[in-house]
Parts: sequence; C-alpha cells; structure tokens
Amino acid sequence: MITALVLLASLATALGQQTCALPSSYKWNSTGALATPKSGWVALKDFNHVPYNGQHLVYASSHDTGTNYGSMNFSPFSDWSGMASASQNAMPYGTVAPTIFLFGPKNTWILAYQWGGTTFSYRTSSDPTNVNGWSNVNTLSTATASTAIDQTVIGDDTNMYLFFAGDDGNIYRQSMPIGNFPGSFGSTYTTILSGARNDLFEAIQVYRIRGQTKWLMIIESIGANGRYFRSYTATSLSGSWTADKTSESAPFAGKANSGATWTNDISHGDLIRVTNDQTMTIDPCNLQLLYQGRSPSSDGTSYDLLPYRPGLLTLTNPGAVTGSPTTTTSKTTTTSTTTTSSGGGTTGCTTAKFGQCGGTGYTGCTACASGSTCTFSNDFYSQCL
Ligand SMILES: *[C@@H]1O[C@H](CO)[C@@H](O)[C@H](O)[C@H]1NC(C)=O
Repeated sequence: MITALVLLASLATALGQQTCALPSSYKWNSTGALATPKSGWVALKDFNHVPYNGQHLVYASSHDTGTNYGSMNFSPFSDWSGMASASQNAMPYGTVAPTIFLFGPKNTWILAYQWGGTTFSYRTSSDPTNVNGWSNVNTLSTATASTAIDQTVIGDDTNMYLFFAGDDGNIYRQSMPIGNFPGSFGSTYTTILSGARNDLFEAIQVYRIRGQTKWLMIIESIGANGRYFRSYTATSLSGSWTADKTSESAPFAGKANSGATWTNDISHGDLIRVTNDQTMTIDPCNLQLLYQGRSPSSDGTSYDLLPYRPGLLTLTNPGAVTGSPTTTTSKTTTTSTTTTSSGGGTTGCTTAKFGQCGGTGYTGCTACASGSTCTFSNDFYSQCL
C-alpha cells in the first residue's frame, strides 16, 4: 500500500515541478556586504543558511580580535536587507564551519561542525534559533583523512552522506543507512575527487537540484585573483562526479562572474536552499549564493584576521525552464496520497507554511495552510511550500 502511494507522489512531483537547466556559463549579480561583525569580532565566516518559518536562519563562524574562532547565529530575518540589524548571537562553544538542517525522519535539527572532540561533531535541537538550546556534543565522524575539514551532510531516500575536504587536493565521502542517522559515520571513507590542492581546497557543499535526479557539488578553490567556487554534478550521491565549471576565468562563482565590486573573494558559504531538510534542495530557477567576501584593501592581513563579511549572489541567467508549473492536479494527488498513507497523517487540520505535511511515519496534519502546497521532498518528508 505504502509503496504504491509513494510512487504516486513521486510521479506528481516529477510531472508537476518546474525546473531549470544549469546555465552553460554562470552570471551573477551581488549585494555589497550585508552585515558587519558586532563589537569584539573582526570576521564573520563560513555561512550556512536554512529557511526557517519563512525567514532566513544563518549560522556562521566568528573570529575575535585575538586568536580565537567562535560560532554564532543571526536572529531570523525576513529579507536580506534585514541581516544588517539582525542580532548576532554568540554560541556558548565553537561549532566552526557549521552545517544546519532539519533531519525530517526524526524531526530533529542537526548542527554539524569541525574542531570538536572528534574529526566532525554534531548537536541536536528542537529550536535552531536558540544558540543555547543545543544538545551535548555527539561524534559525527572519526575519519582521519589528511586535514579533514569543512564537512557537509546530505541525504537521499536510503542513505545519509558526509562529504568533506582534506586541504590535500582530495574530496572524501562517508555514508550510512538513513535509519542510523543521527549517529557516527565511523572512520571508513572513500576518496571521490583528486586534484591540485588549490583547486579542490575547502568549503565543499552538496545539493539536490529540485525537480531533477541530479546533485550539484561546489568546492572553494584558491585562484590567482581570489577565492572562487568550482562545480561538479552527479546523478547519484553514491556515484561519480562530472566537472561542470572548474576554471577561475569561467567559474561557478568567482571574481570573473560575480558582479561584486567590494570583494575579489567569493569564499566559503551556502547556496540558498528551498527546503529545510536533509535533502539540501536548491531551486535552479532561483539560485542564490550566500558567501564570505572582504575588501581587497585587507590583502596581507593574517588569514584568521581577514575582515570577512556576508554577501549574496543572485544568478541572473538561469538555464532553460523545463517541466510545467505545479498544477492543481499534482496538489490534489500529493494531498490525497499523504492522507491515505498508512504511515499516518491527520486530516481535518492544517500545517503552517514550511511545516511538515507528510512522509513515512508522519502522524501530523496533512493539509497545508492556504498559500502553500504539500510538496514531496523524499519518502520521509513532505513540506508545505
Ligand atoms: C540581481 O538581479 C535580479 C534579477 O535577476 C534582481 O531582482 C536583483 O535586484 C539584482 N540584485 C542586485 C543586488 O543587483
């Protein structure tokens, strides 16, 4: 029964979801710096963004005027223009180079990071806006590959994956069955990309492309004219990666195509996801990159004290649109599917926009507040969008 119903929901998604090709060359525009570090900090870095109740929730690393990295979040804000005045909240401990998402199957927020007690660590929470509300630290990975750095976590229907860099020209992957998450990926890893250290450097991120069976990986590179991102694609998270844009002169995002005038670096950040969950889904028709940039006048400053600030790129040339816009038919199909799923689900009530509305084992409301539609993300998680 479940199998048949889930297939129906997938079909509705595939048929009803508009998507865009990746452009043959990326062209962006940029905001200026969106926020200044609060008193006591010289830099805000490593931005990670998740949609939260219709607002932007951003976690980041901070660096003080001395020798210390720390961690922070911004109180949620509605528009990017609100980032400058959003309060900057220090974490009570370091969670450097954060990855934040809602793990749908267990409805638990996850904050993954480096430089904890083990190679990578995570904490859980029911309120990701509260920097003081995170659980005790847990082991995410004990992999000892090179200088393991800059993790990201992503899931498909059956597995969770941890991707990370090594500062050694390699990109690494670990995986576990989704039913074991959250937990430790252990020490075993696979090397999935190898090249020059400066090309496959740090700040790896991996995303599901909405409406396609395709994933996008971006990796920060050190170029002659600043930091830039290269990109790769794959048709499976466990599969091999094909080069998309890998040169500094025609990058995924960098000085050559960013449109930014205040920074040469397009450095460690996060593409703006359209779901809050472990699928790390991006919309190729509306692509934005939250990045760290800095004034070139700071060249020569020691690395940790470079005055990095957040900026936002918007893709101005998305590729051709394919698929049709979500239709009433697909809405109806999805709703009736989740309603009748033996995984549960309650009728006669509504889920607020951005809340969960379906998925295996889900027992809450399956109808969405007006103005939003129950959107299939994976077998475990549908969300009112
Ligand atoms: C970037 O371009 C988009 C349209 O493609 C526009 O809506 C937006 O205002 C532009 N932003 C900046 C900072 O120029």
